[in-house]
Amino acid sequence: MLNLGILAAGGIARKMAKTITSVDCGVRPYAVAARDGARAAAFAKEFGFETSYEGYDALLADPAVDVVYVATTHNFHKENVRAALEAGKHVLCEKPMTTNEKDARELFELAKQKNLLLSEAVWTRCMPFVSALRASIESGAIGRVHLLTANMGAKLAEKDRIARPELAGGVLLDFAMYTLTIADIVLGEPSEQPVGVCEKNSLGMDIQDAIVMKYPCGAVASLSATGCAASDNKAVVYGDKGRIEFSDFWHPQELAVIVDGRDVKRLPLPFDATGYEYEVREFVRTVESGALECPSLPAQATLRILRQMDKLRKDWDIRYPFE
Ligand SMILES: NC(=O)c1ccc[n+]([C@@H]2O[C@H](COP(=O)([O-])OP(=O)(O)OC[C@H]3O[C@@H](n4cnc5c(N)ncnc54)[C@H](OP(=O)(O)O)[C@@H]3O)[C@@H](O)[C@H]2O)c1
Repeated sequence: MLNLGILAAGGIARKMAKTITSVDCGVRPYAVAARDGARAAAFAKEFGFETSYEGYDALLADPAVDVVYVATTHNFHKENVRAALEAGKHVLCEKPMTTNEKDARELFELAKQKNLLLSEAVWTRCMPFVSALRASIESGAIGRVHLLTANMGAKLAEKDRIARPELAGGVLLDFAMYTLTIADIVLGEPSEQPVGVCEKNSLGMDIQDAIVMKYPCGAVASLSATGCAASDNKAVVYGDKGRIEFSDFWHPQELAVIVDGRDVKRLPLPFDATGYEYEVREFVRTVESGALECPSLPAQATLRILRQMDKLRKDWDIRYPFE
């Protein structure tokens, strides 16, 4: 069992703690660190972690920590990942790995030099639905794929991590990143970088995005993300014979194959726990194998999506104060 240390005790850290303490993921809930030591201690007590620290450096200095899960806001990922790698830890970092492609490249290079595993925690890519979706498309049931639509929306535009430039806010890095990811899973690399429009808040962060892309096979993708309204969070892959639909598309538990306007097949894909278990298990298997890249979380995929987001942010003139 590898000893897991979590950097930060916020929203996603809680989901991860719940996951690794409810099913076997191959990691032990060993340590948690937060800026506030009392909050870290309360988190450790609640989830049964062995120890807690005030400040991230203290956790990184603990030789018993094998793997670090970075669960801070986007703006801190680069410095947190760098510090964890310098401390000799394998790192699973929440999405997006960094706020731009250049920084992520540097971190992957550092991980390679240190012979450590670094992966971006894009849970979507590790889930059982991915192979089921690919198999359904490859079976020819819906014919040749021409169009993918995906939308993600929740009323979170006022949350600091979306609203504030110093936290690398905006829905692009938070929600739209998942729409770009599902397009990447289904259609691969686009023939041209994406184009789109956005609506910004008073601090200059995008709170609604509409993005389109086209692909060498002739297919197109139409993607949207909003922090201002709850949406059906649905993705649809349209072929010339039918379509595949799935809700909560970044973590679906069912696919529906629809041909001639009627459900032909429903594929149930229930999680073992929360859905985060698949990325953790794959990460642990990869560490134990000595390989330096998770098969479902290749560095190239992280860099590809960051490149697309860099292009959109440049078009939209969205800059973070620390860049
Ligand atoms: N995979 C998923 O499904 C999923 C879902 C939600 C979020 N995420 C990702 O997870 C990461 C964290 O999201 P979250 O919802 O957990 O965020 P959050 O709860 O708002 O913040 C996470 C942690 O970041 C630190 N932090 C927040 N605001 C700060 C500030 N103003 N100054 C200094 N530190 C601050 C805090 O660390 P301390 O605890 O040390 O104080 C906080 O606990 C993001 O990368 C996000 O995109 C992923």
